[in-house]
Amino acid sequence: MTRPLLATAGLSKRYGTVQALVDAKIEVAAGEFVAVLGPSGSGKSTLFRCLTRLTEPDAGEIHLAGRPFHHLRGRKLAAARRDIGVVFQQFNLIRRRSALENVLSGRLGPTPLWRVAAGRFAPRDIARGRDALAAVGLADQFHQRADTLSGGQQQRVAIARAIAQESRILLADEPVASLDPATANSVLELIHGLTRSAGLGVVCTLHQPELAMRYADRVLTMDAGRLGVRPGASRG
Ligand SMILES: Nc1ncnc2c1ncn2[C@@H]1O[C@H](COP(=O)(O)OP(=O)(O)OP(=O)(O)O)[C@@H](O)[C@H]1O
Ligand SMILES: [Mg+2]
Repeated sequence: MTRPLLATAGLSKRYGTVQALVDAKIEVAAGEFVAVLGPSGSGKSTLFRCLTRLTEPDAGEIHLAGRPFHHLRGRKLAAARRDIGVVFQQFNLIRRRSALENVLSGRLGPTPLWRVAAGRFAPRDIARGRDALAAVGLADQFHQRADTLSGGQQQRVAIARAIAQESRILLADEPVASLDPATANSVLELIHGLTRSAGLGVVCTLHQPELAMRYADRVLTMDAGRLGVRPGASRG
């Protein structure tokens, strides 16, 4: 593998007596879709929160495109986070704002919240936001308030937000958990297409092994905080 987009070593997190993440090592290259499968409570969301440092890991290193991320603070941390698009298990949309405003707000991304509140966006950003919403099949919902969208539509807004942010790494925590099978497939097809067309590096947790086998280049397992390799899994 050439220099990975995302690389961790020894990433660990404990909550009280629960060792939620143990010595996690993960490497993701540009254009690669890595799936993580694991039972409820095994530490998948903890891994994602530690990768973005929205939760501080107790130990370990994180490198983004070869640059250390684990020790950044303040503005440097905020700037580096723009390389990471996130789709959380709970979608974290701004409920009272439209689909388009949510996409433009970039959860970890460039437009500060006060600008969202003031509705101030550059035309270029608006065009990019509309393109992203159209790409996830929500062209008719640009101006619909997030809290009136269905669960699946909200999840697709969260994915559009990550796309519009143009980050190089996408972390998607169960992005299709609340979707029907056809929509789930189209969302994963979309994310998979982005790994190939935009060279995105993707880490995606999933509950269904068959979806992981279908879309992922590599499948990792998570069990009691430990990452492992699921043998024989690749889509090529
Ligand atoms: N903020 C927290 N405080 C205390 N314990 C926590 C906290 N966050 C997670 N945990 C614990 O850490 C373990 C891993 O949780 P995590 O949310 O990472 O699991 P998960 O694999 O994402 O599960 P699911 O598939 O249900 O989403 C669980 O035992 C959970 O109870
Ligand atoms: Mg979780």
